[in-house]
Amino acid sequence: MTFDRRIKIAPSILSADFANFGAEIRAIEAEGADWVHVDVMDGHFVPNLTFGPPAVKAFRPHVKTFMDVHLMIAPVDPYIDAYAEAGADMITAHIEAGPHIHRTLQAIKATGKMAGVSLNPGTPAESIEHLLDLVDMVLVMSVNPGFGGQRFIPSAVEKVRKVRQMIGDREIMIQVDGGVDPVTVGSLVAAGADCFVAGSAVFKGGSVSNPAVYGQNIRAIRAAAAAAR
Ligand code: DX5
Ligand code: ZN
Repeated sequence: MTFDRRIKIAPSILSADFANFGAEIRAIEAEGADWVHVDVMDGHFVPNLTFGPPAVKAFRPHVKTFMDVHLMIAPVDPYIDAYAEAGADMITAHIEAGPHIHRTLQAIKATGKMAGVSLNPGTPAESIEHLLDLVDMVLVMSVNPGFGGQRFIPSAVEKVRKVRQMIGDREIMIQVDGGVDPVTVGSLVAAGADCFVAGSAVFKGGSVSNPAVYGQNIRAIRAAAAAAR
């Protein structure tokens, strides 16, 4: 994927029907998703448990856009190659997941995948100062990670503005994740974010047998984002 700052909507399959991932992935892509956001959770770094490399490998053939793998795991390094081989296009690690985030990002880049670094709500923007020449994306969490459907944390807006200022003219996207919907997305766009993860705001009210609702939800977020550009 070449760098661009077009608005991207990345539905999180954490909010999808866990008995129909293939159909759900095909449905959100048919209804306008730019990326597919895959939330990997280990029950240690976050209090929830989701997808190992075999699950991500099973998702891969259904993803025709871009598989954005968000690793909420610690330690990260032992699993980077497995998620890369499973077919991730972007691998994002949390700066809080261990003492050597610079080495972790080097390891992600060495797989040939795009590399993202994620900041939890309590982590200052300044912590990425020495990582900006390594990453393709900064993920600013707007909830404490672990679950979908949580309340948006407003301090994420100012953090996005600070990160965008630190990035300067480097080719780095800013992604926001957690509680993003048509109400919250505008302030994030105005602050400098480009890519928006949305789980509950995309999947709510729809189903694999009624995917048109996914399209309506995606278009509502995209319209609110475009209005703020
Ligand atoms: C939370 C995950 C998010 C979450 C988003 O730990 O990283 O991607 O699934 O879900 P919503 O959009 O419902 O907050
Ligand atoms: Zn996520």
